[in-house]
Amino acid sequence: MRTEFEGHPDDIILASSLKTGTTWIKALVYAILSSKQYDLNDPAYPLNQVSPHELVPNLEIQLYGPFSNLNPESVSLFPRVFHTHVPYQALPDSIKSSGCKIIYLPRNPKDTFVSMWEMIINKLNNKNAYASKEEALKSFCEGVYHSGPFSDHVASYWRERSKPNILCPTYEDLIADPVVCIKVLSDFMGCWWVKQDDLSNISNKCSFESLSQIEANKTGELNLRGLSLRNDSFFREGKVGSWKNALTADMNAEMDKMIELKLSVVGDFPQFKY
Ligand code: A3P
Repeated sequence: MRTEFEGHPDDIILASSLKTGTTWIKALVYAILSSKQYDLNDPAYPLNQVSPHELVPNLEIQLYGPFSNLNPESVSLFPRVFHTHVPYQALPDSIKSSGCKIIYLPRNPKDTFVSMWEMIINKLNNKNAYASKEEALKSFCEGVYHSGPFSDHVASYWRERSKPNILCPTYEDLIADPVVCIKVLSDFMGCWWVKQDDLSNISNKCSFESLSQIEANKTGELNLRGLSLRNDSFFREGKVGSWKNALTADMNAEMDKMIELKLSVVGDFPQFKY
């Protein structure tokens, strides 16, 4: 019977708030680890067959929460790789004290908000979730967001990043130079088998263009107990700066105010000035 998650020092925990590139980091980490035994271009390779969400399950949603429908024993990778949306302080003690590797993926709050808004309105077709985009943005800036206030979520991991077992590549770092980031991720996870040639293979396999065209990601669904999500709702533009066409000057000013107030105080935080 499933009771409680027990972290292990060998585990790798991927953490992110919502819409910051979770699908991408799951695919990248899966590809890096599994490249030891798989040919990434084999049609039978799991990333060519199923969604990254099936390969790296979320702890509190797919494995242990009320919607969970997977058995933790079903995790196929070694080291075990799990994902979580919970903030650092809410991680199980067994994760925090095990010294296992944690990879956190922050993203510009402006693009994160736009990504979430577009998903709710256009992909999930939930037109009644908010009265307006302005209202949704106000509530995002006030801290109403899945898994807790976005700024607190990012800050909770960012403050821990000087620990040797915590890595925080941003979505923007990944877009700017995926190959360099894949090298950093491989070194961090101790994946000695990943050679220079593999870096661009992994980058191409996990690119937005490639992943979004996999049949399972175009047509499949992530089935939870009593809830299902279309896999294509995790893919939209895959770019940096799409907020520029989506936010008015007033909305942008409100976001800047929130970033200044809540995130600039977190030392050395990326400024997202674009
Ligand atoms: P956009 O809506 O800005 O395009 P999550 O996986 O946390 O739900 O995040 C979804 C966001 O990541 C979406 O952003 C989506 O398009 C983007 N994304 C998904 N796969 C990606 C990939 N392989 N490369 C870059 N961005 C990706």
